[in-house]
Amino acid sequence: MAHDHHHDTHGPAHQQGHGHGQGHGHGHGHTHDHADIDWAEMAPHLEAQAELYTPLYRQALTWLAGEVTEPGLVVDVGSGPGVVSCLFADTFPGARVVAADGAAPLLERARARAERLGFGDRFGTLAGDLPGALAELDYPADLMWASQSLHHLPDQRAALAALGGHLAPGGTLAILEGGLPARFLPRDIGTGRPGLQARIRAVEEDAFAEMRADLPDSVAEAEDWPAMLTAAGLKHTGTRSFLLDLPAPLSDAGRDYVTTSLSRLRERIGERLDAEDRATLDRLLDPADEAGVHRRQDLFVLVAHTVYTAVRPV
Ligand SMILES: C[S@@+](CC[C@H](N)C(=O)[O-])C[C@H]1O[C@@H](n2cnc3c(N)ncnc32)[C@H](O)[C@@H]1O
Repeated sequence: MAHDHHHDTHGPAHQQGHGHGQGHGHGHGHTHDHADIDWAEMAPHLEAQAELYTPLYRQALTWLAGEVTEPGLVVDVGSGPGVVSCLFADTFPGARVVAADGAAPLLERARARAERLGFGDRFGTLAGDLPGALAELDYPADLMWASQSLHHLPDQRAALAALGGHLAPGGTLAILEGGLPARFLPRDIGTGRPGLQARIRAVEEDAFAEMRADLPDSVAEAEDWPAMLTAAGLKHTGTRSFLLDLPAPLSDAGRDYVTTSLSRLRERIGERLDAEDRATLDRLLDPADEAGVHRRQDLFVLVAHTVYTAVRPV
């Protein structure tokens, strides 16, 4: 079966333009100034983040592997650069994997990664606006994965129903949404007012709500994922949360991730913080400052992601 669809769309309108990137890795949590997110610009950060989070994804996939029968077709909905798509190919050696996303440059990375890892012959990409682009699938999916992509779609309930429509009877939809926001720093970092990350988080929650409200044709929805899955005609079968626990001292990759996340955050929502917190954040981002994230030894990454599974009734 040929799943190498390369539609020459330029992605949905809301992916054009110059949105500011998102910090990602903040639980369900990432926030945006605008609905316009330049996903291609974020490619290196998304890829590095997914690589750092691989131990968490491995736990989730091990759990999923115990829940489903060996799938023939796995579809990663909103795959980004395909790090997790390739973990699916590795977990299910008999499966064909299709990475679907609106950002063609991210799919190019996904394809290159699959080739590099030796999965190229059973790896396809599908570029286009989701969930509509899934109409291009040749076969219904046995396993569908959507990690932090649904919340970028204006009507999450309708999107879930559409995803369910592309599942084979008895097939499983697994969505990763919510959990606990990432922590990088102790409550008291010895500079500024204690509790900086909690206050940043509150601002991010507001920015996230604005991001959703600003999506064209946005539909407000309470984030009760089991209820939404049920409303989409699926049978909710499980909810599990998975921890990424990278204690101090962090690896260079961990430190780079924290640094990039905090500098993206400074760009996006720095102006919404009060002057003292903004000054603390600027110290944290100053490579010459002993108290900065480039040098301090107390950085860690602690985050939980929740996965909800549901089955299409036979
Ligand atoms: C936050 S990233 C998640 C990437 C990956 N699943 C992960 O967990 O690391 C969201 C992805 O959804 C894609 N996306 C967002 N809205 C989309 C839309 N309307 N159509 C197609 N893809 C979309 C973006 O291009 C991006 O790759």
